[in-house]
Amino acid sequence: MNNDIKEILYTKENIKEVAEKIGTQLTKDYAGKNPLVVCVLKGAFLFMADIVREIKTYAEIDFMDVSSYGDETESTGEIKIVKDLDVPVEGRNILIVEDIIDTGRTLNCLVDLFNHRKVASVKICTLLDKPDRRVKGIRPDYVGFKVPNEFVVGYGLDYQGHYRNLPYVGILKPAIYENN
Ligand code: PRP
Ligand code: MN
Ligand code: MG
Repeated sequence: MNNDIKEILYTKENIKEVAEKIGTQLTKDYAGKNPLVVCVLKGAFLFMADIVREIKTYAEIDFMDVSSYGDETESTGEIKIVKDLDVPVEGRNILIVEDIIDTGRTLNCLVDLFNHRKVASVKICTLLDKPDRRVKGIRPDYVGFKVPNEFVVGYGLDYQGHYRNLPYVGILKPAIYENN
């Protein structure tokens, strides 16, 4: 599995450091607001676990499973809600946690959905931002790293279901996806 990686971009330590930094900011920004922190499955599961442990004030958590990619390397624009939230969100302060913003289509759909559900506020926290690929005007409020336009995997990010369990983020060797 490690042999499929061309280059490591962010190590476990790099990610830990950035999660602590963002967490400090979130603790300040959300003090007294009891945010509902929403993990977008599956990609965000590891970053979510790291981020919520750095929020040192009252917060609740919930999970949504949405999917746009299937097994392709680019999103389709439609997102499928595989699992919705368990709690009502009207009047809540929502913090969406994502692993990566690529075209912005997934988050564009989610932000629309939350606004439709009359939330008090909705903000976005993402480990990775790939602004070169954006087709929707989505801008994250909290960003770990800006990534180059390369196919990255690991730390939650997959290619055809694999690599999510890598403890770092790396660039996938093109040979892996070009053969498909
Ligand atoms: C990936 C990633 C983001 C989204 C970003 O999820 O985790 O959620 O795509 O792409 P976009 O900005 O172009 O919409 P994916 O749909 O692959 O599902 P997964 O998290 O279960 O892998
Ligand atoms: Mn995802
Ligand atoms: Mg995926």
